[in-house]
Amino acid sequence: MSFDSSEFPFLNPATDRRVAIITGGNSGVGFYTVLQLYLHGYIVYIAGRSKSRCQKSIKELKKKAMAIRSSYSAEQASSRYRGDLHFLEVDLSVLNSVVRAVETFKSMEDHLHILVNNAGAMALPYSVTCDNFEILLQTNYISPFLLTTKLLPMLEKTGDKFPKSGPPRIVYLSSVGHQLAFSYFKLSNTFNYRPNFVFTWLRYGMAKTAGIHFMKMLALRNPKILCMTVHPGLVMNANLFTYFTRLPLVGLLFWCMFQIFGYFFGVTSEEGARAVIKCTLDPQLRAEDDNGKYFGVEGKEAVPSSVARNMDYAARTWIWTIHQLNERGFIIPTND
Ligand SMILES: NC(=O)c1ccc[n+]([C@@H]2O[C@H](COP(=O)([O-])OP(=O)(O)OC[C@H]3O[C@@H](n4cnc5c(N)ncnc54)[C@H](OP(=O)(O)O)[C@@H]3O)[C@@H](O)[C@H]2O)c1
Repeated sequence: MSFDSSEFPFLNPATDRRVAIITGGNSGVGFYTVLQLYLHGYIVYIAGRSKSRCQKSIKELKKKAMAIRSSYSAEQASSRYRGDLHFLEVDLSVLNSVVRAVETFKSMEDHLHILVNNAGAMALPYSVTCDNFEILLQTNYISPFLLTTKLLPMLEKTGDKFPKSGPPRIVYLSSVGHQLAFSYFKLSNTFNYRPNFVFTWLRYGMAKTAGIHFMKMLALRNPKILCMTVHPGLVMNANLFTYFTRLPLVGLLFWCMFQIFGYFFGVTSEEGARAVIKCTLDPQLRAEDDNGKYFGVEGKEAVPSSVARNMDYAARTWIWTIHQLNERGFIIPTND
């Protein structure tokens, strides 16, 4: 069932100021998600590791928004307000950077309506971050977990303070690649084997499955916050694939393969963003009915793998993560 994002409510930020954070909003799926939030009147913080790349994107987003608005009728132009765009520095491969980003954000805003954990990494060879986590696990899952749990009190407060705005929302970008995490799911598996082009997928699949577990656990523990997971579709020209396409000699072969695959089965970044836009803006999604759900291309509800749906695994994922973060000095209040 297709939808038109212009049917979602447009806000006037002067009277209804709603704030969103999106990690990796400077490129790909994140970029087009930010564009729609901005066009719908949201104050959007693009959380990224490169100030120059994010600021360049902010300029491009403003230009694109102007071009879209130039096609509005006079009535639409007078009732549809743009929000605002800001940069928030965060490097997800460094846990201290995540904590600093939360502190910086809290010094600038006292409420948060939408958090989109969009940034991700893929295909990287095995390496360990300065926090001693495997790089794909930390970027795709551990850091989003820390960011989200640190912002949770603010999201809860926002829900209580602005009941008419509907529940605050958390969206996590997983991937169909989560299906590559098999039974006997254990986050302590490092899959540090060669060749990388095989085992990197197992590490990615595990991290993206953990992200689904995380949203399911949050939905259970925080029923007033609407937590959802998205697979945006296969966007074959995303920067995510550059590890393969930059390989000497075989890189060109990979590039050709991805183009052909993308032509038949892929979506553009703009199309990929539609599922995220639906999850962030559709007023019909409700905490009572939709919490913990997984959505695929175009925001169609889908069923994740049996490992990802398994609530015993989800609970173990949650506990393992809290312990690992606590061991490194990052205390997550559990309310247990
Ligand atoms: N593309 C696909 O086919 C596909 C399929 C399924 C799921 N997904 C998921 O969709 C999400 C968006 O992917 P995309 O296709 O839009 O890819 P993309 O264009 O490569 O975007 C990835 C974003 O993540 C950011 N990022 C990576 N590492 C980071 C770090 N350490 N700290 C902060 N930001 C970091 C990148 O920032 P820089 O610009 O600084 O590198 C970039 O903004 C990802 O979570 C991905 O796993 C993608």
